[in-house]
Amino acid sequence: MALDRTTGGLALIAIAAYGLFAALWGVAPVVDHPLSRDPATIAAGKYLAAAGDCTSCHTAEGGETFAGGRPLATPFGTIYSANITPDPKTGIGDLNSARFYQLMAYGADSPLDPLYPAMPYTSFHNVTREDSDALFSYFMSGPAVEQPATPNEMSFPFDIRPLMFAWDFLFASRKPFEKTPDKDEVWNRGAYLVEGLGHCGECHTPRNAFGAMENSKSLKGAVVGDFEAPDITPSALDGRGWSREDLVLYFETGASPRGSAFGDMFLAVKKSLHLLTHDDRMAIATYLMDVGGSQPSKGEAVVAKLGDDAHENRSGRVLYLSNCSLCHGPNGQGVEATMPPLAGNATLAQPDGVNLIKVMAQGLDPQRVSLTLAYGPMPAFRDRLSAGQMADLANYVRSVFATNGDDLPKLGAEEVSRILR
Ligand code: HEC
Ligand code: HEC
Ligand code: HEC
Repeated sequence: MALDRTTGGLALIAIAAYGLFAALWGVAPVVDHPLSRDPATIAAGKYLAAAGDCTSCHTAEGGETFAGGRPLATPFGTIYSANITPDPKTGIGDLNSARFYQLMAYGADSPLDPLYPAMPYTSFHNVTREDSDALFSYFMSGPAVEQPATPNEMSFPFDIRPLMFAWDFLFASRKPFEKTPDKDEVWNRGAYLVEGLGHCGECHTPRNAFGAMENSKSLKGAVVGDFEAPDITPSALDGRGWSREDLVLYFETGASPRGSAFGDMFLAVKKSLHLLTHDDRMAIATYLMDVGGSQPSKGEAVVAKLGDDAHENRSGRVLYLSNCSLCHGPNGQGVEATMPPLAGNATLAQPDGVNLIKVMAQGLDPQRVSLTLAYGPMPAFRDRLSAGQMADLANYVRSVFATNGDDLPKLGAEEVSRILR
């Protein structure tokens, strides 16, 4: 009895404290703008939806476009995306532009019903109100699909949705995007896309124990699913041999002199970056490669180094020639539009070697970005090579093909086993 009273009392205090907190912090009030049915606005919204890759998350495999229900695995449970078609009962048909903006930018249109940050409002707060309104026009112009939400499978206490409001208070920014005055328009456009709709940091920025992006390490690399989304800050990209032109090509086609996009990055290219204008891809590359000066492609320097045939790592060289050179070429040159080059490949230049080892062990599925560009599968070598052989092979390809080969640490069999565990 006494215990019940204590528990009850504590619960009351918690509810009162929460109520006070919600009332004080609240959801920033936003004015409603009338819904535009102007075809130009709808077209602008469609483009912005591609830049935000709304399709990937909001369409289930084999499901109706934007009707939601796609499972997103998080360390705290599985979240199912929402139906964002204009159906008034199960979709967003009952929203207005103000509530749509609050959901996009703050992840909540009421303190009692916040979204989980699986929806990247943690990046979308950088989206302007004008762009949010255009997105709303686009989504409201599409076909309404009646499809009720799939219940989430979150572990306690994360299944208590209102708690997310406290999470937002601690970790989510509500600050709108601000231009950096001493940078030009192209750079600022790139910053807007990368930090906002492009939500690159959601994969490329490391997270803390509460699953929030660590802003002090913005874009410094993180593990997402099978692979590592590498450090894409300017000096890191520069160190791995990227130029602006390489990046623009990579975003357009999924392939470049620095190698091809795979895993989640392949999807980001195919569903989003590939659909952007050349100018926007250039803006993104300009922002990412903000290292100043001209940036010559470093591919040629790498090929020149290959003239030397006698190599100290004989085992690695023999393994390369017998297992890899058939597809990637004896000089690592690859085959145009069919096999990515390994000479100058940025995956080889990542210091920890995680993606290189994982790709080698697990292989990659075939990929087609465009009509003219299709990669066949990359075979898995897990059952054909020992950890020691993979280490020799990795050390060999890194030393002869990576633009920063001389600076990379040597990998051992134990590290290979650890990466694959
Ligand atoms: C990384 C995955 C992801 C991306 C990308 C994404 N969303 Fe979401 N979105 C979600 C998830 C998951 C939810 C449901 C969250 C929840 O239930 O708390 C959601 C919820 C929403 C909601 C709230 C719906 C409602 O009725 O409460 C809106 C609106 C929305 N998203 C719009 C968008 C738009 C517009 C874009 C593209 C600019 C977008 N989302 C991109 C994952 C995503
Ligand atoms: C049968 C042909 C084939 C063989 C053999 C092969 N690869 Fe690949 N490899 C590919 C293809 C195709 C891709 C691109 C796959 C994609 O992006 O979908 C690829 C991708 C890669 C990548 C990822 C980098 C990038 O830019 O996509 C690495 C690293 C790699 N291969 C290393 C190796 C190594 C090391 C060997 C030998 C152990 C090897 N490959 C053997 C065909 C092959
Ligand atoms: C859903 C997760 C995800 C999102 C979102 C994402 N990336 Fe990636 N990215 C990855 C992964 C995983 C890799 C590693 C695989 C590869 O190299 O293709 C990668 C690789 C890259 C690379 C190649 C780096 C190298 O040296 O090989 C670049 C450049 C890049 N991403 C830029 C971006 C930009 C710009 C955005 C935002 C517009 C973005 N990414 C959004 C997951 C993501």
